Amino acid sequence: MPAAPLPPRFTEIKRGIAAANPNFEQDLTKAWNEVLAELDRVSKTIVKEGSAYIPQVAFADLDKLSEAQIADIKRKGTVVIKDVVDDAQARAWKSSLEEFVKANPQSEGFPEEDKQFFHLYWTKAQIQARAHPNMLAVSTWLNSLYHVTSGQVPDGVDLGTPLTYADRFRIRHPGVPWARHPPHVDGGAIERWEDENFRACFADILSGDWMKHDPYALEPRLEARTSLYRRPNQSSVFRTFQGWLAVSKTGPHQGTLKVFPDVLLSNAYIILRPFFRPLVPADSKDILDAKNWEFDISTPEFPGIFERDNGFGGPHPTTELHPHMLLDETMTSVPDVNPGDTVFWHCDVVHSVEQEHTGSEDSAVMYIPAVPMTPANARYVARQKDEFLKGAPPPDFPVATTGVGLVGLATDGDVEEPLGRKAMGLPISVA
Ligand SMILES: [Fe+2]
Repeated sequence: MPAAPLPPRFTEIKRGIAAANPNFEQDLTKAWNEVLAELDRVSKTIVKEGSAYIPQVAFADLDKLSEAQIADIKRKGTVVIKDVVDDAQARAWKSSLEEFVKANPQSEGFPEEDKQFFHLYWTKAQIQARAHPNMLAVSTWLNSLYHVTSGQVPDGVDLGTPLTYADRFRIRHPGVPWARHPPHVDGGAIERWEDENFRACFADILSGDWMKHDPYALEPRLEARTSLYRRPNQSSVFRTFQGWLAVSKTGPHQGTLKVFPDVLLSNAYIILRPFFRPLVPADSKDILDAKNWEFDISTPEFPGIFERDNGFGGPHPTTELHPHMLLDETMTSVPDVNPGDTVFWHCDVVHSVEQEHTGSEDSAVMYIPAVPMTPANARYVARQKDEFLKGAPPPDFPVATTGVGLVGLATDGDVEEPLGRKAMGLPISVA
């Protein structure tokens, strides 16, 4: 079904961006052609290497990585960090989640008839996992991949202090197909272009100097408004990396995560894409040829952005709208993980969940992103803490019946570690 047209005012967003540079058309066209050539080159390598293309490191080695390894992780925007938590602990958390759901069959989730993705935020297992010292250490390490570009750390910012963002978990059963998470980018849809602050994250791309784009520049992220329309399920905090902790074994074809493992290139392509249109039909064999694309800012189209919940969803790149990404081949499954291993992907990385799960075990993960101390994040965490103490969903998530009448949710006293308490905005000693 074709998407509904976007509001005519979106044309003005493009024109406003173009007006900032008298050579916009020439500069962007040059960048576009370069990005297409680089995509062609990198895609071939991604397809050839498959899951081995995704960097894997041991938690114990995080402080010993070479500059080359760190550069590799930063360019791919994705990393598997192994053995963050003991296998036995991770498995125990899975059992605890299962027991919680059994004791609370009214817990919201989907699919309705056999729930596997749960709108639950405050189970004891989740609270403990987020507050685990190694999870907080991983968060700090990931946050520190970002850097200050102005020479001075802005007030209220501390990349060495991790905060907690409460998200959900899934326990996916073998054999059940999953179409709910096609390739997408989290945290901001049209906001990437519409919000001046968010757009600043991509300034080098929009000036045509895409190779200079630094997805790890801290300052523009701090003021970026990722949720202009207050859509539910739209993260309003700055997560340096989204991530999950595996509480079961899982791997390729077993319902795991897939990524487009090049955040520099996917950002460049997705941000430039609305300024170009194809001159041949999407199914033409020549669609990838740069000669068949031309600069065009006369329409409100932002491919991959669509109306949703009184706001806008996306970006959802597709093979039709973003053909040069070769998503059918380049969306790469993260390698095998064991309970206690983690996977993290930069907040701009295109990711999806495998449709198939042909394994024999549940594929179970708790979503736990890396979140640094910033003024806006601290404000969110303060509001989130208030909801936690009430047993209600966190501010970014829909107010539902979740939390009402649930038995066995964590309470203040269940967060014991001082660092974990600080990360949740709780006073250091239990009230
Ligand atoms: Fe996502």
